[in-house]
Amino acid sequence: AAGKLWGGRFSRPTDALVDELNASIGFDRRLYRQDIMGSIAHVRMLARQGIIPKDDAAKIEQGLRQIYDEIRRGEHEFRLADEDIHLSVERRLREIIGPAAGRLHTGRSRNDQVALDFRLWTREALIRLAAGLTDTIGALLEIAERHPDAIMPGYTHVQRAQPVLLAHHMLAYVEMLFRDLDRLRDAYRRVNLSPLGAGALAGVTYPIDRQFVADLLGFDGVCANSLDAVSDRDFVVDLLSACAQIMLHLSRLAEEIILWSSSEFGFIELDDAFATGSSIMPQKKNPDVAELIRGKTGRVYGHLMGMLTVGKGLPLAYNKDLQEDKEGAFDTVDTVLLILRVLPPMLRTTRFRTDRMLTAAGEGFTLATDVADHLVRHGLPFREAHEIVGRVVAYCVEQGKDLPDLTPEEWGRFSPLLVESPPPLTPADAIAAREMLGGTGARHVADARIAAAAARDEW
Ligand code: ARG
Repeated sequence: AAGKLWGGRFSRPTDALVDELNASIGFDRRLYRQDIMGSIAHVRMLARQGIIPKDDAAKIEQGLRQIYDEIRRGEHEFRLADEDIHLSVERRLREIIGPAAGRLHTGRSRNDQVALDFRLWTREALIRLAAGLTDTIGALLEIAERHPDAIMPGYTHVQRAQPVLLAHHMLAYVEMLFRDLDRLRDAYRRVNLSPLGAGALAGVTYPIDRQFVADLLGFDGVCANSLDAVSDRDFVVDLLSACAQIMLHLSRLAEEIILWSSSEFGFIELDDAFATGSSIMPQKKNPDVAELIRGKTGRVYGHLMGMLTVGKGLPLAYNKDLQEDKEGAFDTVDTVLLILRVLPPMLRTTRFRTDRMLTAAGEGFTLATDVADHLVRHGLPFREAHEIVGRVVAYCVEQGKDLPDLTPEEWGRFSPLLVESPPPLTPADAIAAREMLGGTGARHVADARIAAAAARDEW
């Protein structure tokens, strides 16, 4: 294959369609910075170990720096025939410094090179995702801080269940996102090892210093097994599954934003900057951002499934299938990062209609559990109390009344205790009764918010 850097054993050129199928340059060009960083570390090590002449190493490093600038300035020509970013950089290096370029690939294979590049990229992606998550946590905490006493209906089965504080509801998402942060940190710990030195699969025959390269690139250590180093992509699965879990959480929040902004709920009003209109219905203000968060969760899950499927059944060590690890990961990280940039300002500008929330929190028998608990405090077994209040509710439904509408006489028909000692009937009563660890009591929620803000600052 004329012109190929690996062309020595070939006498005829590659079929054009094979070039098209085989080339990853269209997408792995994004790894140019990582590729050049890795090559500079490698070439410094080669010179330090006396494996290549020092002046060649200096030329190589200088050439690589020039290529980095050229690519950044958009002056580098990415050619399909170059196959991938690794060969593209090396081809250009040869144009700039001549035959000395040929020493760069000593003691290295594209197999450990690409594993290195992608680990470096993944490491950065994890850090950027963590920054986006901490910002989102910050926006949720601000809502909690701005509305410390706002009461809303809590739901199960999308049926009004018991009153909760809006701040408590926001802090529930904060907890989820903290666990997601933890997953990112965990993924970082595992990805942060250098595969370089694994060579094609078996290690290399030169006296290289893997630890030196790992130190230069800020890795915690080196991959222990060369076959594993070049052929596993579980670090990509870690990244994608952490992203899938993040999207699962954000999609739940998005779903609530969609529900809450409907006129049926009317709990929030999105800022104009974060909503869209209809081309036919003049009255519309649609929560497209939230819908896209919910919708894009599908593609993120899809990429996770794609990577899992690419990896299954691959014999050791490197196989070209592994080139399929990149596009899904790029798209996933692009998608999640964009969402993590849009969501915080959307949350910060959303107006909460706390009056409507409070009204809704008191309707629909949301105090029924508290009335039953009240009877229990007066000595009844819980099951009996539950039965009594169930009958009260049935009566109310029949009469078209809510619990606060009942007269003492009506309460008395179900239990004299409910007349002697009137039960709690306001959402505020329900909140105040739950000053307990993990509960929705206002003092507890305020403490939880302060603790979460401190934990966020730690990140
Ligand atoms: N473009 C390839 C990839 O992304 C680089 C490694 C190629 N190695 C090879 N033996 N062909 O996986």
